Amino acid sequence: MNEHILVCVAWPYAKTSTHVGQVAGAYLPADTFARYHRMAGNKVLMVSGSDEHGTPILVESERLGISPREFVARYHKQITEVWEKLGISWDCYTETGTSNHYSITQDFFLTLYDKGYIFKDTMQSAYCPTDRRFLPDRYIEGTCPNCGYKEARGDQCDNCGHTLDPIDLIDPRCKLCGSTTSKLEMRMTDHFFLDLPKLQEPLQQWLTENKEHWRPNTLSFAMNWLKEGLRARAITRDLDWGVPIPLEGYEDKRIYVWFDAVIGYFSASVEWAQRQGKPEAWKEWWVPGQTSPEVKPYYFIGKDNIPFHTIIWPAMLLGYGNRNLPFDVPANEFMTMSGEKASSSRGNVIWTRDVLEQFGPDTLRYYLTATAPEGRDSDFTFEEMIRRNNDELVAAYGNVVHRTLTFLQSKFGGVVPTPLEYRDADKAILAELENGFAVVSSQIEKCHFKSALDAAMNVARAANRYLDEQAPWKQIKVDREAAGTTIYVMLQVISGLHALFSPFLPFSSQQLHELLGFEGEVSKEGWQVRPIAAGVTLPKPAPLFPKLELPVAVE
Ligand code: MF3
Ligand code: ZN
Repeated sequence: MNEHILVCVAWPYAKTSTHVGQVAGAYLPADTFARYHRMAGNKVLMVSGSDEHGTPILVESERLGISPREFVARYHKQITEVWEKLGISWDCYTETGTSNHYSITQDFFLTLYDKGYIFKDTMQSAYCPTDRRFLPDRYIEGTCPNCGYKEARGDQCDNCGHTLDPIDLIDPRCKLCGSTTSKLEMRMTDHFFLDLPKLQEPLQQWLTENKEHWRPNTLSFAMNWLKEGLRARAITRDLDWGVPIPLEGYEDKRIYVWFDAVIGYFSASVEWAQRQGKPEAWKEWWVPGQTSPEVKPYYFIGKDNIPFHTIIWPAMLLGYGNRNLPFDVPANEFMTMSGEKASSSRGNVIWTRDVLEQFGPDTLRYYLTATAPEGRDSDFTFEEMIRRNNDELVAAYGNVVHRTLTFLQSKFGGVVPTPLEYRDADKAILAELENGFAVVSSQIEKCHFKSALDAAMNVARAANRYLDEQAPWKQIKVDREAAGTTIYVMLQVISGLHALFSPFLPFSSQQLHELLGFEGEVSKEGWQVRPIAAGVTLPKPAPLFPKLELPVAVE
């Protein structure tokens, strides 16, 4: 295979550390996908960065009495530490605060402006006299005109999913000062607008062509937006934190955080190219026709980000011209925490950093993939994570590996035996392994990570059954060579397993790689069963996964 797979992952706000719901929703599937494609011999570019602009970040930094720059630097650092520990294999993880990102965002803005896709207009904007600032949409709360929900936000009603304008809200209130009586003023202010209606036609055409592989929820969400008819959207704000507007006379305004953040996919690719010392290399990823076959850009996001990735960013790319549009947007649903929506006010947010400290990265990675919110919401509990670790990672995969390797040590002195001719059972398990590769590949390529992981685990279960049935500990008493064949076959199967699991569980796969006597990195070895030769001596094994107990602290 020689495809170009561009893996774009939602940019987390540099406002908190990363929580497990974000990891399950976007980062982990993206990383699994990228790792698989690299192993399968495809060219991968995986980019993202910290999203550092917007009013919430400014407000939070003001509350702490530090500059917004200092504020985002703290969280950017925390976030990148989590990626490191979790094994997220970025080609470029950057931030929206770079000068590269600023100038590319401004170029995007000016190009769209010159081409007539951005226009200036005067609008009414909500202003809070108490806080003395214009309020971003989400800081305005009121009753939804569509469904009557009382806590609808200025940009969207979380109850009916309707997108809103603050002006649509009944009884709008300021969320900043918390006062429900504070009277919001509507003030006139100049802003720039993205002319989405002008792009409705080409968007519609793009969204109705070859989208069979999209998740139905994502596609119907996007189509519904189009059906409602697109409206021009303000892409600047009255704010002094963000990318400056590259036109004179707007020094007290900034480009809207969402407009600049999505451009990050592109600017990060340019930064990657610069870091490679090949400043033009981004073109291979973004300019149609620069590679053969075409680049496939995938966008890994949570469902709350669907409109920006299926409508607004594609519209910006269409307007800008000559840039690759998304190939797929495998959006995930949400992950609840012990049955409740994760929210800092409830205090039930589970920070990835904390889980990684208590449990290794692969336990978390395994659990979050096995319960990924694909197609429907899923739920995180520590009990279930520990159960799956013990019943599946330890009892199925870890166990079959450990039994084989310890048997090799105790009965063969660690030297890989020479096999006899394969028996039917040997052929059957090797066929099962081969089939495992085919199923895991096709599931990952379709972005079905849960079933892909399941298929890999099924091979481990089959290997356990094979080992139980062959029972080399009995065979060896009557026929040492038969036992040797079983162990030889098992070693090939384990070698296959460490490759099969490696997109999901990179740390334990690397460990097993070394236990199998291989050098270098498992991620570089290709998507295949690497044979283990007879006569080679393997090192003494250690268990891949620890059996876990529920720590008192999380009960
Ligand atoms: N920061 C946004 C969020 O966490 C996501 C931005 S995705 C991007 O919801 F594409 F705009 F970068
Ligand atoms: Zn207020």
